[in-house]
Amino acid sequence: MVDDGMVVTPWEVSGDIDYEKLIKEFGTQPLTDVLIRRIEKESGEGHFMLRRKVFFSHRELDVLLKEHDEGKPWALYTGRGPSGNTHLGHMLPWIFTKYLQDAFKVHLYFQITDDEKFLCKPELSLEKTNKLAYENALDLIALGFNPKLTHIIVDTDYAKPLYKIALQVAKKVTTSSAKAIFGFTDETNIGMMFWPAMQAAPCFLPSVLEGRPVRTLIPAAIDQDPYWRIVRDVAPKLGYPKTAAIHNIFLPALEGPGKMSTTAGEHSTIFTTDTPKEVEQKIMKYAFSGGRGSVSEHREKGGVPEVDVSYQWLKIMFEPDDRRLKAIYDDYRSGKMLTGELKHILIDKVNAFLKKHQAEKERAKKNLDKFILKD
Ligand code: TRP
Repeated sequence: MVDDGMVVTPWEVSGDIDYEKLIKEFGTQPLTDVLIRRIEKESGEGHFMLRRKVFFSHRELDVLLKEHDEGKPWALYTGRGPSGNTHLGHMLPWIFTKYLQDAFKVHLYFQITDDEKFLCKPELSLEKTNKLAYENALDLIALGFNPKLTHIIVDTDYAKPLYKIALQVAKKVTTSSAKAIFGFTDETNIGMMFWPAMQAAPCFLPSVLEGRPVRTLIPAAIDQDPYWRIVRDVAPKLGYPKTAAIHNIFLPALEGPGKMSTTAGEHSTIFTTDTPKEVEQKIMKYAFSGGRGSVSEHREKGGVPEVDVSYQWLKIMFEPDDRRLKAIYDDYRSGKMLTGELKHILIDKVNAFLKKHQAEKERAKKNLDKFILKD
């Protein structure tokens, strides 16, 4: 979707994102309080990403939850494109996916698309993307996923089962609809033309593996939705349940609007591999501030949390406690808290998160094998 300077496609996100508009243009449903409460009931505790509408939209989540109540099986599916180190924006939906897995005790299929990144990034070799796939897998495992319920698919190493499903999908999708949905042109390589069928394949994989209909639910950022449109279109033709989805907003780039993307430059992102010093430097130097031009003006007029990236990061990912978040909001809004102080709250949170994450990632190395799906 390209509109009013906002671009949201699986390969590019930029501009000021209007999420209400995306719901309309993509034809998804807003996430209702009824659905949020239904999930919270299963979990026994709420999740701030639901309460704060970080997850804001869905496709047929209501249908999936109704089937769950009837005892029907379903599975989670999400993924990662291994084009470099994992950054914090990538981890956002995975953190929520873990919450869903813990609540509903369902299988998770996690696709790592070394094939896709080889095809769409001219500078990357297959050796490189495959190596990155296994490195990135550790970021998922480090979040504490249950090895008995979690299955990581590295595309080129699990190609055979995926390929058979992808072929079925590909036969039902015309070049003209792929062009319309993904913006492919005559310059697009033919690998990419076929590739969406590979991202569609895990939607139906649980049904194939279990030999019965297993609906999938995909927690992912909204830019991946074009794939699910294709999947939902072909599902009935192939005799599989339509995939359901729950969409999150993007963690904003440090310098402001648009998605956090590595292509936007090293300083707009924080990687899971960054050191405490790098985190501090990036946030101090680049995080877009809603503060005023001078301390006296800030004290007088107060800051604007709505445009302040440090505040947004706390709200979206790093301050789960509603009361503390509100206190930060009020102090910043009133001018009592300065930008530097706000940034330091975020720096401490991110560094505490990364310290634990990096230690868990080290430990994940010896468990990697338990998670990789083999054919
Ligand atoms: N194409 C995605 C990316 O580049 C990776 C991916 C594969 C994915 N399957 C997915 C993301 C399912 C979300 C959900 O990041």
